[in-house]
Amino acid sequence: MLKNKKIILGVCGSIAAYKSAILIRLLVKAGANVKVVLTADAANFITPLTLATLSKNPVYTQYFEEETGVWSNHVELGLWADFMIIAPLSANTLAKMATGLCDNLLTAVYLSAKCPVYVAPAMDLDMWKHESTRTNIDKIQSYGNQVIQPGSGELASGLFGEGRMAEPEEIVAFFKEKLRLSLPLLGKRAMVTAGPTYEAIDPVRFIGNHSSGKMGFAIADQLAALGAEVTLITGPTAEKSSYEMKRIDVVSAADMLKACTANFEEADITIMSAAVADYTPVTRADQKIKKTSSEFSLELKKTTDILASLGKHKTTQQILVGFALETQNEEAYAKEKLIKKNLDLIVLNSLNDKGAGFKKDTNKITIFNKTAEKSVFEMKSKTEVAKDICNEILKLINV
Ligand code: CTP
Repeated sequence: MLKNKKIILGVCGSIAAYKSAILIRLLVKAGANVKVVLTADAANFITPLTLATLSKNPVYTQYFEEETGVWSNHVELGLWADFMIIAPLSANTLAKMATGLCDNLLTAVYLSAKCPVYVAPAMDLDMWKHESTRTNIDKIQSYGNQVIQPGSGELASGLFGEGRMAEPEEIVAFFKEKLRLSLPLLGKRAMVTAGPTYEAIDPVRFIGNHSSGKMGFAIADQLAALGAEVTLITGPTAEKSSYEMKRIDVVSAADMLKACTANFEEADITIMSAAVADYTPVTRADQKIKKTSSEFSLELKKTTDILASLGKHKTTQQILVGFALETQNEEAYAKEKLIKKNLDLIVLNSLNDKGAGFKKDTNKITIFNKTAEKSVFEMKSKTEVAKDICNEILKLINV
């Protein structure tokens, strides 16, 4: 959830500033890129060196660092961030946020930030209860800032009560939950097929293809990252998902048909990226076939086109995406498959494009929609290609 997220952590002058070290550690561990802005008072409680070491980034304390001659651009910092957290938030900085006062780098970054801002207040019992604090909290919430409520317990003053900054673990959990709830595919179910199918000839031989499953796994991961509940139906592959999802392993086209049919009805989005065998042996020998004759021929029958069969049962609420792997007349064949199989989108791979196709880490695709609009994409990593495919799906469901 926090992977590659750019976070500004603002730290104010409060004894709870020591907790910001743990907070940074947790955020960095979760994959976030954290930049810290300290107020002058905060630097009395925790050293910039500690926070710079933990965040692996320079710590910003003032507009102009005399020693280095570096000017810290508050607008740039504010725009860089995906999120800003001010933890601990002191009563002083809270009052500045409520009134728009901007007399240090932290408040200037806050005013410049366009991203969501979270605050974790920390103050003594009576300061927290004070009417002006209550008014200021209401005010900053009315500006869209989100408050992570302080906990109760023994305070630095020795008093007992509310005012203790939320624990770093609670802040991270709060933050992750907020992010999860904002995911565009939350509540949607997705079904993805990946990899090859193997059609058995006898107990030791099969007809297969070179599909690695990389593209399907990248799509399943991307859908999960966007919040969808994913069912991944995969043929034999060494690939592993990076996100939690339901995985159904299958071997043959017939197995894949069965799994897809059973799961299709409840899928809001279905992406069929598996390289399903078009033909399968009419009979499977029970014992290993011996090389007794000089020639050997195998009788094959057509497999069911899974995608086409799902297309027949698709409702108007469901989104169905197919792939077309072509070597000639690419666009015409892809558009034909889009109509014939009743798809919402078709993703065209041309084997004539270098860097596209089986076993590669890259792909080059063109996507057609129902109105034959065409989106052409550059050669990209399969992870980036999966993002492009999901973006086209998000456009269809208007998010
Ligand atoms: N597909 C499927 N079931 C099959 C064969 C293909 O669901 N038995 C799906 C693939 O997952 C892909 C799409 O159909 O999403 C297109 O597959 P492709 O092999 O390009 O085309 P076909 O429709 O099989 O036609 P042809 O091989 O004649 O080009």
